[in-house]
Amino acid sequence: MSIDHVSKYKFNIGDSVLYGTDTITTQKKIGDLKDVFQNEGERSTMNQESIVYSVSLLQPVKAGTIGGLFIGTSIIEQGQVDKEYYMTKGHFHQNTSSSEFYWGTHGSGMVLMMKQDRSFHIEHMSPGSIHFIPAETAHRVINTGNEKLIFNACWPADAGYDYDTIYNEGFSCRIFNHNGSPTIIETDKR
Ligand code: F6R
Ligand code: MN
Repeated sequence: MSIDHVSKYKFNIGDSVLYGTDTITTQKKIGDLKDVFQNEGERSTMNQESIVYSVSLLQPVKAGTIGGLFIGTSIIEQGQVDKEYYMTKGHFHQNTSSSEFYWGTHGSGMVLMMKQDRSFHIEHMSPGSIHFIPAETAHRVINTGNEKLIFNACWPADAGYDYDTIYNEGFSCRIFNHNGSPTIIETDKR
Protein backbone atom coordinates (compact mmCIF):
# COMPACT_ATOMS: atom_id res chain seq x y z
CA MET A 1 0.00 0.00 0.00
CA SER A 2 1.19 3.53 -0.79
CA ILE A 3 -0.19 6.73 0.64
CA ASP A 4 2.48 9.11 -0.58
CA HIS A 5 0.45 10.63 -3.42
CA VAL A 6 -0.64 14.21 -3.05
CA SER A 7 -3.65 15.32 -5.05
CA LYS A 8 -2.74 17.85 -7.73
CA TYR A 9 -6.18 19.46 -7.46
CA LYS A 10 -6.65 22.05 -4.73
CA PHE A 11 -8.93 24.83 -3.61
CA ASN A 12 -8.55 27.65 -1.07
CA ILE A 13 -10.38 26.92 2.15
CA GLY A 14 -11.39 30.58 2.53
CA ASP A 15 -13.40 31.13 -0.63
CA SER A 16 -13.15 27.68 -2.30
CA VAL A 17 -11.40 29.06 -5.40
CA LEU A 18 -9.67 26.23 -7.30
CA TYR A 19 -6.01 26.57 -8.10
CA GLY A 20 -3.07 24.53 -9.28
CA THR A 21 -1.08 23.85 -12.41
CA ASP A 22 -3.89 22.10 -14.25
CA THR A 23 -6.40 24.88 -13.70
CA ILE A 24 -7.62 26.57 -16.91
CA THR A 25 -8.96 30.08 -16.43
CA THR A 26 -11.13 31.99 -18.88
CA GLN A 27 -12.46 35.52 -18.53
CA LYS A 28 -15.55 37.19 -19.87
CA LYS A 29 -15.16 40.94 -20.35
CA ILE A 30 -17.79 43.55 -21.16
CA GLY A 31 -16.54 43.37 -24.76
CA ASP A 32 -17.33 39.62 -24.92
CA LEU A 33 -20.94 40.00 -23.83
CA LYS A 34 -22.65 41.59 -26.82
CA ASP A 35 -26.45 41.28 -26.62
CA VAL A 36 -26.34 39.56 -23.22
CA PHE A 37 -27.70 42.52 -21.26
CA GLN A 38 -30.95 44.29 -22.08
CA ASN A 39 -29.32 47.69 -22.65
CA GLU A 40 -26.92 46.79 -25.45
CA GLY A 41 -26.32 50.49 -26.21
CA GLU A 42 -25.03 51.06 -22.68
CA ARG A 43 -22.83 47.92 -22.78
CA SER A 44 -21.23 49.01 -26.04
CA THR A 45 -20.11 52.33 -24.53
CA MET A 46 -18.62 50.80 -21.34
CA ASN A 47 -14.93 49.86 -20.92
CA GLN A 48 -14.74 46.77 -23.13
CA GLU A 49 -11.76 45.43 -21.12
CA SER A 50 -13.64 45.37 -17.82
CA ILE A 51 -13.96 41.82 -16.44
CA VAL A 52 -17.52 40.66 -15.68
CA TYR A 53 -16.73 37.07 -14.68
CA SER A 54 -14.04 34.44 -14.80
CA VAL A 55 -14.12 30.66 -14.61
CA SER A 56 -11.26 28.42 -13.44
CA LEU A 57 -11.80 24.78 -14.21
CA LEU A 58 -10.22 21.40 -13.74
CA GLN A 59 -10.71 18.81 -16.44
CA PRO A 60 -9.29 15.52 -15.12
CA VAL A 61 -10.63 13.78 -18.27
CA LYS A 62 -11.16 14.93 -21.86
CA ALA A 63 -14.32 16.87 -22.71
CA GLY A 64 -16.91 14.37 -23.91
CA THR A 65 -15.76 11.50 -21.70
CA ILE A 66 -18.83 9.54 -20.64
CA GLY A 67 -18.80 9.10 -16.86
CA GLY A 68 -16.22 11.89 -16.33
CA LEU A 69 -16.69 14.98 -14.19
CA PHE A 70 -15.46 18.58 -14.33
CA ILE A 71 -15.26 21.03 -11.46
CA GLY A 72 -14.98 24.81 -11.76
CA THR A 73 -15.00 28.05 -9.79
CA SER A 74 -16.87 31.05 -11.19
CA ILE A 75 -16.24 34.57 -9.90
CA ILE A 76 -18.76 37.24 -10.92
CA GLU A 77 -17.62 40.80 -10.24
CA GLN A 78 -19.95 43.32 -8.70
CA GLY A 79 -21.39 45.65 -11.32
CA GLN A 80 -24.28 46.53 -13.57
CA VAL A 81 -25.00 47.33 -17.20
CA ASP A 82 -27.43 50.19 -16.76
CA LYS A 83 -29.55 48.72 -13.92
CA GLU A 84 -29.06 45.04 -14.80
CA TYR A 85 -26.67 43.17 -12.50
CA TYR A 86 -23.57 41.43 -13.82
CA MET A 87 -24.33 37.78 -14.58
CA THR A 88 -23.15 34.77 -16.55
CA LYS A 89 -24.29 34.24 -20.15
CA GLY A 90 -26.16 31.12 -19.12
CA HIS A 91 -26.70 27.96 -21.17
CA PHE A 92 -28.50 24.70 -21.63
CA HIS A 93 -26.22 21.68 -21.80
CA GLN A 94 -25.71 20.28 -25.28
CA ASN A 95 -26.28 16.80 -23.88
CA THR A 96 -29.72 17.68 -22.57
CA SER A 97 -29.82 14.83 -20.04
CA SER A 98 -26.88 16.34 -18.07
CA SER A 99 -27.55 17.87 -14.68
CA GLU A 100 -25.17 19.92 -12.49
CA PHE A 101 -24.50 21.12 -8.96
CA TYR A 102 -23.69 24.76 -8.11
CA TRP A 103 -22.77 25.82 -4.58
CA GLY A 104 -22.15 29.30 -3.23
CA THR A 105 -18.92 30.11 -1.38
CA HIS A 106 -18.69 33.95 -1.20
CA GLY A 107 -21.06 36.87 -1.76
CA SER A 108 -24.69 36.58 -2.69
CA GLY A 109 -26.80 36.27 -5.79
CA MET A 110 -29.44 34.30 -7.59
CA VAL A 111 -29.47 31.12 -9.64
CA LEU A 112 -31.96 31.38 -12.47
CA MET A 113 -33.14 28.05 -13.92
CA MET A 114 -35.41 27.86 -16.94
CA LYS A 115 -37.06 24.82 -18.51
CA GLN A 116 -37.50 24.33 -22.25
CA ASP A 117 -41.11 25.55 -21.93
CA ARG A 118 -39.58 28.83 -20.58
CA SER A 119 -41.02 28.40 -17.09
CA PHE A 120 -38.41 29.49 -14.55
CA HIS A 121 -37.51 29.42 -10.91
CA ILE A 122 -34.92 31.32 -8.90
CA GLU A 123 -32.88 30.24 -5.88
CA HIS A 124 -30.88 32.57 -3.64
CA MET A 125 -27.17 31.79 -3.63
CA SER A 126 -25.00 32.53 -0.60
CA PRO A 127 -22.04 30.81 1.11
CA GLY A 128 -23.19 27.28 1.90
CA SER A 129 -26.15 27.12 -0.48
CA ILE A 130 -26.30 24.14 -2.84
CA HIS A 131 -28.28 24.25 -6.08
CA PHE A 132 -29.24 21.22 -8.13
CA ILE A 133 -29.73 22.06 -11.79
CA PRO A 134 -31.79 19.27 -13.35
CA ALA A 135 -31.49 17.97 -16.91
CA GLU A 136 -33.04 20.07 -19.70
CA THR A 137 -32.72 23.26 -17.64
CA ALA A 138 -30.89 26.43 -18.68
CA HIS A 139 -28.95 28.11 -15.88
CA ARG A 140 -27.50 31.55 -15.20
CA VAL A 141 -26.11 33.18 -12.04
CA ILE A 142 -26.67 36.85 -11.22
CA ASN A 143 -24.54 38.78 -8.70
CA THR A 144 -27.13 40.81 -6.79
CA GLY A 145 -24.88 41.47 -3.77
CA ASN A 146 -22.43 44.23 -2.99
CA GLU A 147 -19.21 42.24 -3.45
CA LYS A 148 -17.82 39.54 -5.73
CA LEU A 149 -19.97 36.42 -6.01
CA ILE A 150 -18.03 33.14 -5.98
CA PHE A 151 -19.50 29.70 -6.58
CA ASN A 152 -18.31 26.26 -7.57
CA ALA A 153 -19.87 23.85 -10.01
CA CYS A 154 -19.55 20.14 -10.79
CA TRP A 155 -20.93 18.71 -14.03
CA PRO A 156 -20.53 15.74 -16.39
CA ALA A 157 -17.58 15.89 -18.77
CA ASP A 158 -19.89 15.06 -21.68
CA ALA A 159 -22.47 17.79 -20.85
CA GLY A 160 -21.20 20.32 -23.42
CA TYR A 161 -22.70 23.80 -23.80
CA ASP A 162 -25.62 25.08 -25.83
CA TYR A 163 -25.23 28.89 -25.71
CA ASP A 164 -27.12 29.50 -28.96
CA THR A 165 -30.61 28.85 -27.60
CA ILE A 166 -30.14 31.47 -24.88
CA TYR A 167 -28.39 33.84 -27.28
CA ASN A 168 -31.33 33.63 -29.70
CA GLU A 169 -34.26 33.37 -27.31
CA GLY A 170 -32.96 34.73 -23.99
CA PHE A 171 -34.23 33.79 -20.55
CA SER A 172 -37.83 34.58 -19.65
CA CYS A 173 -36.81 37.03 -16.92
CA ARG A 174 -34.11 39.56 -16.06
CA ILE A 175 -33.00 40.91 -12.70
CA PHE A 176 -32.50 44.65 -12.18
CA ASN A 177 -31.41 46.86 -9.33
CA HIS A 178 -34.43 49.02 -8.55
CA ASN A 179 -33.61 51.50 -5.79
CA GLY A 180 -31.12 49.09 -4.25
CA SER A 181 -33.30 45.95 -4.36
CA PRO A 182 -33.11 43.10 -6.85
CA THR A 183 -36.30 43.10 -8.90
CA ILE A 184 -37.34 40.28 -11.22
CA ILE A 185 -38.89 41.43 -14.48
CA GLU A 186 -40.51 38.83 -16.73
CA THR A 187 -39.50 39.32 -20.34
CA ASP A 188 -40.69 37.20 -23.17
CA LYS A 189 -37.91 38.40 -25.39
CA ARG A 190 -34.42 39.60 -24.72
C1 F6R B 1 -20.67 24.46 -16.48
C2 F6R B 1 -21.31 25.61 -15.79
C3 F6R B 1 -20.44 26.70 -15.17
C4 F6R B 1 -20.52 27.92 -16.12
C5 F6R B 1 -19.87 29.19 -15.58
C6 F6R B 1 -19.94 30.35 -16.57
O1 F6R B 1 -21.65 23.63 -17.02
O2 F6R B 1 -22.51 25.73 -15.75
O3 F6R B 1 -19.11 26.33 -14.96
O4 F6R B 1 -19.95 27.55 -17.36
O5 F6R B 1 -20.50 29.58 -14.39
O6 F6R B 1 -21.24 30.53 -17.07
P1 F6R B 1 -21.54 30.45 -18.62
O7 F6R B 1 -20.93 29.16 -19.11
O8 F6R B 1 -23.02 30.46 -18.75
O9 F6R B 1 -20.87 31.61 -19.27
MN1 MN C 1 -23.73 24.22 -16.87
